[in-house]
Amino acid sequence: MTAERTPVLVDCDTGVDDAMALLYLLHHPAVEVVGITSVFGNNTAARCAHNSLRVLELMGRTDIPVAVGAENPLVGEVTYLATHVHGNDGLGDSGLPLEVSTPLSTLTAVELIDELSRQYAGRLRVLAVGPLTNIAHALDAIPDLTERVVDIVIMGGAADVAGNQSPAAEANIIHDPEAARAVLGAEWPSTLVPLDVTMTEIITEDHRARLSASKAPAAHFVAAVSDFYFGGYGFDSFGVRCSPCHDAVAAGVLTGDVVPTVFPRIGVEVDCTEGPGRGATICDTRGRYRGFPDQDDARCRVALVTDGSFPDRLVAMLTGAASL
Ligand code: BDR
Ligand code: CA
Repeated sequence: MTAERTPVLVDCDTGVDDAMALLYLLHHPAVEVVGITSVFGNNTAARCAHNSLRVLELMGRTDIPVAVGAENPLVGEVTYLATHVHGNDGLGDSGLPLEVSTPLSTLTAVELIDELSRQYAGRLRVLAVGPLTNIAHALDAIPDLTERVVDIVIMGGAADVAGNQSPAAEANIIHDPEAARAVLGAEWPSTLVPLDVTMTEIITEDHRARLSASKAPAAHFVAAVSDFYFGGYGFDSFGVRCSPCHDAVAAGVLTGDVVPTVFPRIGVEVDCTEGPGRGATICDTRGRYRGFPDQDDARCRVALVTDGSFPDRLVAMLTGAASL
């Protein structure tokens, strides 16, 4: 008898590493992606939804609904979109066809979250790898959402390392700190996968060559769309062409393929002030000298160390060299 797949809703701002996360989950035998909601961040929510459809069409999974979500944060208006990191089209301006023929869901992101959390009540897991605006709106609109959902895994924040959008803050969180505060403060088990680990799980040019040489369409796609990311953000961060795969690492933590070796349950506060700390995730890592005893009142587990081996696994899966 085959085990039931875990239903997962992905809330994302589909840029390059979001696409990697989607492709990873779509390949995963233990997961059923049941819906995708889009949010502004790497591009507009409308463009990010379109990019999710590009990924789904590539995989022949146009049965999965894609709903458009927030174009602006809870407070104020969007101040920038990360086209300098992910390209003008959000997927690396690769030259691959942009057109899609699959329609978007007629539901809004919050409506789709409502529908799926009812349909899969008690089983649904959420992977949130963009600004947390849709999830904050959903918490507001659906009072029992935290009871319907098993847990939420979030790519975001910087616990004990520098940010990437400001010295203190990571991009997903600084896009909407008020939303992040609401989501991390809600009464559900949450997991934060911050830059502390995602910046240590690196796709190299050797990986990209393997992806490029593969006959598998998903592998080719990732090689093509990540070229821009390798030469821009990757190079600027590490001084060599390469790519962190932030959102895919969070997806790996959700499935259990990435097992953080330091993974404490600790308090996390989001800085919502207007100063230089805005968007920082202040993680209470003071327990480190005592082996990180769980903090009783904390609901969030924070991935602090992983072993760097996930990109090998991701590439093997996408090229069909290994199945999970
Ligand atoms: C996060 O910001 C976005 O640009 C990426 O897709 C990822 O979710 C990394 O800071
Ligand atoms: Ca993202």
